[in-house]
Amino acid sequence: MHPQDEPRAWWKEAVIYQIYPRSFADSNGDGIGDLNGITAHLPYLSKLGIDVIWLSPVYASPNDDNGYDISDYRAIMDEFGTMEDFDYLLAAAHRLGIKIVMDLVANHTSDEHAWFVESRSSVASDKRDWYLWRDPVDGHEPNDWQSVFSGPAWEFDEASGQYYLHCFSRKQPDLNWDNPTVRDAIYDMMTWWCEKGIDGFRMDVISMISKDPSFANGPLWAHVCNGPHVHEYLQEMRRRVLSRFDLLTVGEAGGVTIEEARRYANADGSELNMVFEFDHVDGNATTAGTLYDKWGYAKPQLPAVRAAFNRWQLGLEGVAWNSLYWDNHDQPRAVSRFGDDRPEWRVLSAKMLATCLHLMKGTPYIYQGEELGMTNKRFAGPEELVDVEEVNAWHELVEKKGILSADELLRCFDAVARDNARTPMQWDASPNAGFCAEGVEPWLAINPNYGQINAAACLADPDSIFYYYQKLIELRHSHPIIVYGTFRPLLEESDSIWAYERHLGDCVLTAACNWTDQEQRCDLWDEHSGTRLIGNYTGHVDGILRPYEAYVTLR
Ligand code: GLC
Ligand code: CA
Repeated sequence: MHPQDEPRAWWKEAVIYQIYPRSFADSNGDGIGDLNGITAHLPYLSKLGIDVIWLSPVYASPNDDNGYDISDYRAIMDEFGTMEDFDYLLAAAHRLGIKIVMDLVANHTSDEHAWFVESRSSVASDKRDWYLWRDPVDGHEPNDWQSVFSGPAWEFDEASGQYYLHCFSRKQPDLNWDNPTVRDAIYDMMTWWCEKGIDGFRMDVISMISKDPSFANGPLWAHVCNGPHVHEYLQEMRRRVLSRFDLLTVGEAGGVTIEEARRYANADGSELNMVFEFDHVDGNATTAGTLYDKWGYAKPQLPAVRAAFNRWQLGLEGVAWNSLYWDNHDQPRAVSRFGDDRPEWRVLSAKMLATCLHLMKGTPYIYQGEELGMTNKRFAGPEELVDVEEVNAWHELVEKKGILSADELLRCFDAVARDNARTPMQWDASPNAGFCAEGVEPWLAINPNYGQINAAACLADPDSIFYYYQKLIELRHSHPIIVYGTFRPLLEESDSIWAYERHLGDCVLTAACNWTDQEQRCDLWDEHSGTRLIGNYTGHVDGILRPYEAYVTLR
């Protein structure tokens, strides 16, 4: 069996594991995960079988947004260790055959980055134009853009009498990518990391680097996503940096359409390998609706989630490459959002979700703890809010404007807040879950269910979610149809079953997943269907799928 038309590439065959370093493992007893903590757990990742680690930012940062506000691109955050620790981690990972992809946060810097400090120092500064400074209009913000983290996207600078743009927090001023010197500085920095031997970049909000020059009023995303020069800049980046190394590149692309993704992730390779799209995690499209913006708590509906994936699967076939993910550090836990985290269904539904995702066409991403079926946390009250997005939303929507009641917003946080994904990794049942030493206070409270849900328990149980992921990864590495087969949706009218086929040469893979806690009829299989490839129950009962059953055959 050989891939036919689709050109082979290691980043298509790989499975990526995302590490959020702050919450992965603390090696030195300060309650904060660090680089040496990651190095210590490489054997665990090697056992899981993943090919690549995507490391959320580890650069120097005042941590207004946990490292997504960088103050020095060429230094390691003190709390995470030193550059020697990084070099050691990279070498140790490479020895195990694991590659490392870095987070490239280049739409903005920290306001404490030397570039911004200089830019702010005077309107005459050489670096003034490195950021987006504008005069007030009628004594107010230059336009009505609202930041992603609530409130105006402009911050007034008393000293110079101008505003600067920040699409995220006020401590994350946006760089001016239209200035070629800025782009040179970013490319130099990227080259420096590539020469160190890293294996790629996950590009933070890369679809936002080119702003609409009219700066007209309206929704922020409409004026900053997929702007007029974004493809030109990425092609330049490809020529200047990316093409000189063998890298995996994935762009986080808020607001991206299939049309746009065909350009960003085009098969010609002139821009990026793939993008992260947001259609299946957009609560406004996949649930009965949100209360305000992203804030809502309704459960995603199978038909809408499946339709989003089917659209992307078919829309990029042969012309671009998909990435596949359920969750990451910005999303709630997969099993709580899309599956069923009640104790009786958690394991089955987590395996079902894994099956569904990993056997579609594209490169799958696992977020730390997903392989254990880690769940959302519960927000007791405002004193528990840590993430800048939560804190600002509380201030703006509950305290300042009264758009949502305290109870409503807390309920939304339980469902979709980012801290759900950021609670520390649950390694074992010892105090502090093995994340940090006993008696140390972890930077974010550990989910109280760590006694039941932890890596040690999973490793000791051959039927665990961990070993199910291990098996899925093994299958990907041994069956080209999983990587290269074409995708064909099935049962598109069903409101309980998600099914599809993959085709490669004469081979057909058939996958079906029951998204409900009830038994469902399913007549996809007959005596010609071939043999069982994987499933989350033992055996298979003809004509039905049991609650949360996933069943896959190959012929
Ligand atoms: C991306 C990151 C998110 C961060 C934001 C600003 O969406 O994934 O964590 O807050 O960009 O950098
Ligand atoms: Ca530490």
